[in-house]
Parts: sequence; C-alpha cells; structure tokens
Amino acid sequence: MNPSGAVARIRAALPDQQARRWFRAPGRVNLIGDHTDYSGGFVLPLAIDRSCALAVHSAENVRVRSLDARDVVEVPADGSAEPRSVRPAWGRYVAGVVRELATLGRPPAGMDAVVASDVPLGAGLASSAALEVACAVALSSLAEWDPGIPALAEACRVAEETATGVPCGIMDQLASLAGRIGHALLIDCRSLERRPVALPEALGILVVHSGVSRSLDASPYAERRRECEQLARELGVPSLRDATAEQVATHPLGRHVVSENMRVLAAAEALAQGDLRSLGSLVNASHASLANDFGVSTPELDALVHVLVDAGAYGARLTGAGFGGCIVAVCDMGAAEAIAELATARYRGRTRREPTPFLCRAMDGAGPLNAPFAS
Ligand code: GLA
Repeated sequence: MNPSGAVARIRAALPDQQARRWFRAPGRVNLIGDHTDYSGGFVLPLAIDRSCALAVHSAENVRVRSLDARDVVEVPADGSAEPRSVRPAWGRYVAGVVRELATLGRPPAGMDAVVASDVPLGAGLASSAALEVACAVALSSLAEWDPGIPALAEACRVAEETATGVPCGIMDQLASLAGRIGHALLIDCRSLERRPVALPEALGILVVHSGVSRSLDASPYAERRRECEQLARELGVPSLRDATAEQVATHPLGRHVVSENMRVLAAAEALAQGDLRSLGSLVNASHASLANDFGVSTPELDALVHVLVDAGAYGARLTGAGFGGCIVAVCDMGAAEAIAELATARYRGRTRREPTPFLCRAMDGAGPLNAPFAS
C-alpha cells in the first residue's frame, strides 16, 4: 500500500505545483457501531491512512479536476448551482458542499483544484465523505472561515444526501474531520460529542475488500432508515437510541440498534483495557446482528468474516453500510499478515472473488497537508 499515492499523482500532473496549497481528508473504517448513527446512537470509527488529496489555488469559481474520474466540474463559488443538475455525477458532491457552506455563511472564495484519492470507491470506507470533507476544508481555508467541526460535518452530510438521495448519517464525515492519530473515536451521534480511545499497540486492524463493490443508492439503506424511524414512532420514543432492550425484543431492526449501541460502549471499554479477546467477541456479535437482525450482509461478507476468524482473528465484521464492500478484522499485530494470507486464500477458493487486504493505521482528521514535496 502507498498512502501518499494520491499526492504523488497530483504532483506529477501539476506543472505549477509550488503555487498551490494542499489539503487532505481521510477515509474511515468503523470498528463497531453500524446503522446506529441515524438513530442518534454510538459509533467507534477511526480515520485511516488512505486519503483524498487536493491541491488548490484561488480562483473565481470552484473548479475541480479529478485525476481518478479524469473529468472536471465547475460551479459558481456562491453556492447558486443546484447540485442535482451538475454533471459529471461526482461533481454533485462538490456542488453540494459549495452550496451547504454558502448556506452556513461562507464567503464565496473560489478555487482551482486538482483532486486524487487513495480511498477505494464503493468499499464502505467513506470515499465520498473524504471528497466532500477535502473540498470543505480547502474552501473554508481559502475563505479564511471556520464554522467548527460539527457544522462542517453536517454540511458535508447534507451534501452527500443531496448528491445521492441517500439519507445517510453523520459518522463518515465526522470521522474524516475529527480523527486522531493512534485512536478510534467514540462518537455520540446525537450530541456529536467525540471521545478519542487509544488503540493498543498490539492491535492489528485488518481491512479486507470482499471484491464485491456496492453503491448505497442502489441498496436498501434508505428503506432500513425509514423502518427504524417508523419503529421509533410506534414505540413512542424520539429515536431507537432511546428504546430499551425489552421494547425491541420482538423487532429485529430495533434489536440490532439497541444491542449494537451497547456493544459500542463495551468495545470502547475493552479497548481502554487492552482486552482484545473481548473486543473480538463484540465485533463478531456485531456482524451476527447486522447479518441476522438488520439484514445488510451478503454471502461474500459472511464468508470473509468466517475465514478470518477461522484463521486466527479475534473478531471480524462488515464495516460501513454493508451490502458488499469491506470487512474489518481485529487481530494480533504480529499475526496480521499470516491471518490475511491464509484467510484470503480460503476466501478465493470458496467464492471465486478476489479479496484485497490491507492493514490500516489510525490517522488525524482532515486538514492542510504540509510539505507534500518532501520525499
Ligand atoms: C454509511 C453511512 C453512515 C452510516 C453507515 C452505517 O457509511 O454514510 O452514515 O449510516 O453507512 O453505519
């Protein structure tokens, strides 16, 4: 893996590189706590060492050239473009951010930007949040304006929802903005309070792509969210965060949300104690709940979880929305490579899919990139 690949590609594509300012925003992997954020619950993600990088200089409009899409998008800096009408489609994320920041009061400073990303697309690692957040921090900085992390995260979340029509939660954007090197973030998605939880040095965090990509607008994500909101109304609580285990005992979706919130809090405690076995059991229970009660796993994700635990991981689970993409496994750092090798060989044999494993490190959240020309 080459975490600085995006920076190197931008550098190679720019003749006038010295005149630009650089920004980056990381993807995230969620250790535990999925499909809880939009019910006001708890999540435990970390910002990873794969980022979306942006090299910019001031301009009148907002013009972004993507080295990944090999395309350009240009919109007015005052947020007057309607994001849904912007082409190419990835430009809707950019236009959504420009519009939301204008609504919050950002002065209309434009930028000419070149963007490239190392966050795999359609993998459940928040590649679109990384693009939104990278644009948001660059645009805020160029306008010498700072609305604070919660407001920026919410603006980027709304931009995502506008661009895709998918009513996503706040986890991805907040993790990309607020990540802390060497830590996971325990986030209360109702208050947006964040508590960094140190990751033990012995912990290896292995991400494996199942070889099946997914897109949320083609998934039942919105339907699950609607069902959760409907159930909260039936139970007479503001959101499923407020339901008790007794109240949801016979509702699979509610059972998942309520039990997952408890697992997230227990996992943060296990991490703090350096108790990797307990962490692994919670991670396994999370996958079972997402698969059996919430219905967002796939045969490939189930197979991947199975082979990883069989190969010696303490625990493994789908990460992000599910329906394809990646799993995250927790294991001993020293055993991670051997586990990845054994498990991916077995997975390949079982599913004929090509898995991609990588070990990830927890990094700081989005911000300026200093000295990207240093080797
Ligand atoms: C996607 C959404 C998040 C969250 C996860 C599931 O990543 O963008 O808000 O709901 O799915 O936990």
